[in-house]
Amino acid sequence: MNFDLIVKNANLADGRMADIAVAKGKIVAVERDIEGDAQTMIDATGRLLSAPFIDIHFHMDATLSLGTPRFNRTGTLLEGIQLWGELRPLLTKEAVIERALRYCDLAVSQGILAVRSHVDVCDDRLVGVEALLEVRDMVQDYLDLQLVAFPQNGYFRSPIAARNLERALDMGVEVVGGIPHGERTMEDGRLSVTALCEIAAKRGLMVDLHCDETDDPHSRHIETLAYETQRLGLKGRVAGSHLTSMHSMDNYYASKLLPLIAEAEVHCIPNPVANVVLQGRHDTYPKRRGLMRVPELMALGVNVAFGQDSCMDPWYSLGNADMLEAANVAIHATHMTSHDAMKACFAAITDNAAKTFGLEGYGVAPGCNADFVLLDARDPIEAIRLRANRLAVVRRGKVISETAPHVSTLSLPGRPRTVEPSRYAPVEFATR
Ligand code: FE2
Repeated sequence: MNFDLIVKNANLADGRMADIAVAKGKIVAVERDIEGDAQTMIDATGRLLSAPFIDIHFHMDATLSLGTPRFNRTGTLLEGIQLWGELRPLLTKEAVIERALRYCDLAVSQGILAVRSHVDVCDDRLVGVEALLEVRDMVQDYLDLQLVAFPQNGYFRSPIAARNLERALDMGVEVVGGIPHGERTMEDGRLSVTALCEIAAKRGLMVDLHCDETDDPHSRHIETLAYETQRLGLKGRVAGSHLTSMHSMDNYYASKLLPLIAEAEVHCIPNPVANVVLQGRHDTYPKRRGLMRVPELMALGVNVAFGQDSCMDPWYSLGNADMLEAANVAIHATHMTSHDAMKACFAAITDNAAKTFGLEGYGVAPGCNADFVLLDARDPIEAIRLRANRLAVVRRGKVISETAPHVSTLSLPGRPRTVEPSRYAPVEFATR
């Protein structure tokens, strides 16, 4: 039989080894020893083939703007927001498009084939919205871009946010955003959650709020978000991003809150790399890590997906579109070092994120879109440990990015000529 692409000898994230056959942009078979010809044949030689990475929380209107108009000197969230306020009036549509397209190139090379990006609507020009809607169309053949209308300065606190949020949704932005902890009072924050969920219910949209991104344990807008999700019949369509106050909450309150989140089927989106440096800034020692309670949420069956949040922007100077880095940092910051926990962190940048995104045809199974990434690692844990090179990135059956395996050449007397990290295993010592 003739296929467009066959990948031989791949390890799958669930531990199986299989060949993958592709025809007309779809996966048609995942089984051992597939016979047949294909235009493109790849021998995976036991490397991990995974469904692509998804960045479920990003700010594409800000990315790659680092240093414009200046750098964030304190590195804090609040100076980042202030700096963004200085940059926003300087934005042009062309510049946002150019930066976003460049970022998407990088994302694809790193195996990210879907991004949910918040886009600030606190600008009467709606430059970011116009630009990213165009980018969404421009990249659709190789990357799914989903946009969230985000009132950075507060839905109530900014006098222009409410009107512009509706304008952005009218223009085709598909998710309702918000920032309840950024409103003037707790009460306004609560009312903003209700108002935003009602907009989503009326329009049949999803919700993804920047929620409780603070170290204040009394910031509890997630409770309202879970409540409104149930009241308005939005189960499965609502996400709480950041939720960092959960880190600092009293354990008794958390024991009530977490089951409410599970019951409402609210997706939870920690942004480990960004929040581990943005939170705890008022602390001397000990310094809080500022991540939501990831293992406890997962244990209750809550769908948790990691985002990257930022890459070279006013909030975060580093970043490389690397979702394996997000998983790696999450493992360290949450003590999720058991075998099963580390595998769960790989799911948080793949399957769980697809569920939050609402991405159809996702996965490595017959009938799914032929979108996947071949990693220079044997299994998900090794991929996270090595932040493995993306040997091949495939979209609808076509290889759209390739990276060479990591091989270093040594010049050490009596030692091997090369080191390949993905060929390393714990050394077995002879024992008596
Ligand atoms: Fe964010």
